[in-house]
Amino acid sequence: MKKYAEMTPEERRAEYAAVKAAYDGQKALGLKLNMARGKPGKAQLDMVMDLSHVLKEPADYMDGDLDCRNYGNVDGLPAAKRLFADILGCKPEQCFVGGNSSLQLMFDTISKAYINGLLHSEKPWCKLDTVKWICPVPGYDRHFKVTENFGFEMIPVPMTENGPDMDTVEQLIRDPAVKGMWNVPKYSNPEGIVYSDETIRRLASMKPAAPDFMLMWDNAYCVHEFDCDFRPFEDILSLCAQYGNADMIYEYASTSKITFPGAGVAVMATSEANLAYLNPIINVQIISYDKVNQMRHVKFLQDREHTLALMRRHTDILRPKFHAVLDALDREIRPLEIAQYNRPVGGYFVSLNAMPGTARRTLELCKEAGVTMTGAGATFPYGVDPNDSNIRIAPSLPPVEELEQAIAIFCNCLKLSALEKLGL
Ligand SMILES: Cc1ncc(COP(=O)(O)O)c(C=O)c1O
Repeated sequence: MKKYAEMTPEERRAEYAAVKAAYDGQKALGLKLNMARGKPGKAQLDMVMDLSHVLKEPADYMDGDLDCRNYGNVDGLPAAKRLFADILGCKPEQCFVGGNSSLQLMFDTISKAYINGLLHSEKPWCKLDTVKWICPVPGYDRHFKVTENFGFEMIPVPMTENGPDMDTVEQLIRDPAVKGMWNVPKYSNPEGIVYSDETIRRLASMKPAAPDFMLMWDNAYCVHEFDCDFRPFEDILSLCAQYGNADMIYEYASTSKITFPGAGVAVMATSEANLAYLNPIINVQIISYDKVNQMRHVKFLQDREHTLALMRRHTDILRPKFHAVLDALDREIRPLEIAQYNRPVGGYFVSLNAMPGTARRTLELCKEAGVTMTGAGATFPYGVDPNDSNIRIAPSLPPVEELEQAIAIFCNCLKLSALEKLGL
């Protein structure tokens, strides 16, 4: 296959006509396919149905002498804290176990900083003229929406293959208005990058000018390998504590992609001092999260070992889906040199950089042919990708047959937009 950039205009016109004919054929099928969000597929949800049946007798609802059906323990069931501490490698006393969403816990922690101030804040952030926030890019669109919602000034920092560009981060934190940073340290969304030990050490040892800097550690994919064995990960809480930064770190995770995204359990892990400060403030808004669901998860997942065994079963479902996407890209796109993409071994996404200036057009063409993708620009603060290049592919939801159809259409859209850009 000849690279598009090396084709003569006549060759490009001929190629365009051939690809367009194939695309029109696909469009005529009137398909409705979705590769937009990182949702587990039906087979994954069906696989964990036993979660709903683990609580039978009144005794099953007891965590020692604590009845999980009743009010109380806003910071979660002790047994649920032990489960998450085992999974994350931190201490149970450092865990706050909440409702079904880690995103909500992240939003909520920031809202506490905004309304009340944090343990080391001089004043609530709502009283400050400017709050700035470090956003590794490309990143998770919903993180950016949270910090946008609070009116923070988001500063994009490029990702490298080892995590965020730390030289830039270390410069930025000298500004006391820079109050926090988003991180998805293991199988980042969307690139599937795992932060290197060096990056993690540099982050844990940072000395930000802001005394209440929040190192947001969204470990959403902490046990989510799909193409390799479980990769143990440093306990960021211990590491930060070693560098005198115990109160700087806020780690999050959830069972959204272990059991049910709509009915899982989420955790925030942070210093005991932070929890002692935050618990009463959180208690103003809620008496107790759903501890019955926490108990269900304790009984169903049991511990890290059982959780990892379940994750290997998810892997069997997910791996063929990622391979279907990557094989199609390798076959159809790589030889043309019109896009670069990563080859993740965990997480929920494939990140692709199309030829600059073609992401929007590619996704427009996809939409016309019935394929829904995450919007162009979504992986950047304010939804603006300066290169109009990054596209996030989420292969987890559709069954393999549908995914194959969707990615075939996507490849043709990439080709058409690249040919249009190169000139016909
Ligand atoms: C990096 C990241 N964090 C958080 C979430 C959402 O987690 P939860 O369901 O616990 O709110 C997602 C979902 O895709 C994610 O990719």
